[in-house]
Amino acid sequence: MNILVLGHGGREHALVKHLSRSNVLNQVFVLNGNPGMMKDAYPLFGDEEPEDILKQCLLHHITLVIPGGESYLAKGVTNLLTSHGIHVFGPTKEASQIETSKAFAKKIMEAYDIPTARYQTFTTFQDAYTYCQHRLPPYVIKYDGLAAGKGVTIAKTLEEAEKVLHDLLDDKVYGDSKVLIEEYLEGHEYSMICMVHHTTIIPLPLAKDHKSRFEGNLGPNTGGMGAYSPVDFVSQQHYNLSLDMMRKVAIGMVNEGYPFTGFLYGGFSLTSEGPKVIEFNARLGDPEAEVILPRIHNDLVDLIDKILHGKSVDITVDSSYHVGVVMVSDGYPGPYKKNESLDIPEEIQSYVYHMGTKKENGTYKTHGGRVILVQGQGKTLDEAAQQAYLRIESMKNKTLKYRCDIGKSTT
Ligand code: AMP
Ligand code: GLY
Repeated sequence: MNILVLGHGGREHALVKHLSRSNVLNQVFVLNGNPGMMKDAYPLFGDEEPEDILKQCLLHHITLVIPGGESYLAKGVTNLLTSHGIHVFGPTKEASQIETSKAFAKKIMEAYDIPTARYQTFTTFQDAYTYCQHRLPPYVIKYDGLAAGKGVTIAKTLEEAEKVLHDLLDDKVYGDSKVLIEEYLEGHEYSMICMVHHTTIIPLPLAKDHKSRFEGNLGPNTGGMGAYSPVDFVSQQHYNLSLDMMRKVAIGMVNEGYPFTGFLYGGFSLTSEGPKVIEFNARLGDPEAEVILPRIHNDLVDLIDKILHGKSVDITVDSSYHVGVVMVSDGYPGPYKKNESLDIPEEIQSYVYHMGTKKENGTYKTHGGRVILVQGQGKTLDEAAQQAYLRIESMKNKTLKYRCDIGKSTT
């Protein structure tokens, strides 16, 4: 079996690394992949529109495609490839609305009784601003569409909310769409990712992402500054409730005519009223994938094959803790410099996931906001975090930034 992984980040690096261990795999291919993947994958180059991807699949006899990120899904790569008999472990364009349209996701949650933040949608600045004027901060403002992970702002003041609403609804910085304003959910966050095919649903171990740029939940939201797995602060009862919500969505999607296949990501907040959904995504999380996948003993290709055939599978999970610390370019998530040289010592290379790097004349350079994730592993969370930070120190890197509390904080 030949498999193509779509995407160029740390999540896809983790996928490639795991897939390459498979016994049923011939070759794993990547399209415009990052340098970290090259040890385990065969590189393809070219455009990334669904039609171009289809041509690559036919040329290289690829029978299974795993899209890493939502942009491929939103363009309908699954719809096109499956219509040509190629298996895709990722949802159709319609089903991926669970991520790409916040309003769609809220409707499903309402219809299937899934606890989430109360919200209202707006299309004009004036209505949205007036709504905020009658409420206390913080204001959770969400763009209803794809905004490269920057579509959510937690505005701590009315002035900040005014500016964000102006950018979204008057200047339409991400395009012409609705805006949701949500109730703020106070609680520790965790991610539950399930492998889903219609009503077959297999949970992967929980992970905890750290979204804020700075220690202690301060600063702007990022794609994720680090993650760990397993997550001990979620009790069995709260775990069961969360899994129930994931089941309800999967079943709801089938009932509504949008059956879901792929990784279904639930972002939860553990509020004083129990777990509530912050968001659903139609893919693996990044950096969650980098701490979840290495814990899974099963052959991933075999697992996906079984799920696609509606068979239930037992996942065997390593009991050790994994911590991943993300190293970012100075300035991220705002503007940042690229092309800084990046030295990754040989002895830690197998614990480094490439997120935004490139290789020029045999040396690595930074090529994105989130540059690499450095992983640690241990019998306890502390031990795993300590190992990740020791590896970072061994890099003696003076340019990249990172949070010092990954694996040590629940925020
Ligand atoms: P989203 O893109 O919906 O995941 O939002 C990104 C991040 O913003 C989440 O991971 C949370 O940290 C935060 N967030 C989103 N919605 C809420 C909410 N209603 N209450 C509190 N925090 C939120
Ligand atoms: N780490 C959050 C996400 O992948 O959406």
